[in-house]
Amino acid sequence: MPESSPPPARPRVLSGIQPTADSFHLGNYIGAVRQWAALQEDFEPFFFIADMHAITVEADPKVLRERSRKSAAQLIAAGVDPQRAAIFLQSHVPEHAQLAWVLMCLTGFGEARRMTQFKDKSAKGGEGAASVGLFTYPMLMAADILLYRPQYVPVGEDQRQHLELTRDLAQRFNHRYKRTFRLPEPYILKETAKIRDLQSPDNKMSKSASSPTGIIEMLDPPSQSAKKVRSAVTDSGTEIRFDEAAKPGVSNLLTIYSALAGRSIEELEKDYQGRGYGDLKGDLADVLVDFVTPFRDRTLELLDDPAELDRILEDGSERAAAVASRTLADVYDRVGFVPRGPVRSAR
Ligand code: TYM
Repeated sequence: MPESSPPPARPRVLSGIQPTADSFHLGNYIGAVRQWAALQEDFEPFFFIADMHAITVEADPKVLRERSRKSAAQLIAAGVDPQRAAIFLQSHVPEHAQLAWVLMCLTGFGEARRMTQFKDKSAKGGEGAASVGLFTYPMLMAADILLYRPQYVPVGEDQRQHLELTRDLAQRFNHRYKRTFRLPEPYILKETAKIRDLQSPDNKMSKSASSPTGIIEMLDPPSQSAKKVRSAVTDSGTEIRFDEAAKPGVSNLLTIYSALAGRSIEELEKDYQGRGYGDLKGDLADVLVDFVTPFRDRTLELLDDPAELDRILEDGSERAAAVASRTLADVYDRVGFVPRGPVRSAR
């Protein structure tokens, strides 16, 4: 059945990042944001800062505001082009919350409870201490995505389950009412889907779980990040070889090296044949410094002009709202809400 809003001229790509840290970490960049910059060439891009998701756990208002602008600056410094991409704050487009409500009404309680992120996060303080917002987080995320009818959603591996729920909800809505949503496809690059903690390479690099020495913050002074790479945990043995099961530490360093230097893992393995872990870590530290230095400088420069940054976000939210409002109008119509126009003007 045809959709009532016209299909976009170019397929869309959409993704989001939470402003819950002072800096993006290397996992955010290599696992996700790098792909955003690459995909903006061939797709109509929508990238946003998930500030509404950020308050599912307690957040200081002043810090949240700072981090939201900082996140936008980092996206631009990482190569997302505000001319091409709509870069916006989730809270600036109220349709996200409005569609989330409709999707919550389509989600089973048990289905929501099975989401591993909720289980993990609520396990820390007990379910009683977790907010209802944390519980409904995946439905807001589904709304973020479905409003824009994107083809691809570039994310890291940890978001896969959320994308599966998003597809299920889209399908359920399409089936129950009328075909409205495109089924989005996760865009998860196998090689870089899970960047690991430098100190405990069995775990992913994570803003909430990594120790300060296990995580590379992209806005930290580059010399500090170089030091962390040089003291990264490696594995027993001496051989530099990609083998995630037997050598998770070395494999992680090779993955990061390959992504930042644009060289294949095989090529790196060949280069480091017969050389020690110290050589690999020293060279990767240099590659990292060369990468983060201009990224950091550009971010700080953008933050020096908050008016320009706010202008970019305003422009982005206008472009986003133009799409989101059309989708929401279709959804409201299909679920049976009465349009408000004529009633209002008669008052
Ligand atoms: P967030 O803010 O935790 O992370 C942003 C992106 O970084 C990826 N990522 C990683 N990739 C590889 N290795 C790692 N160690 C690593 N750590 C983080 C994440 O997978 C993510 O792609 N729920 C989302 C934000 C969100 C969203 C959306 C994303 C809200 N609405 C709609 C896509 C579409 C989140 O918390 O990402």
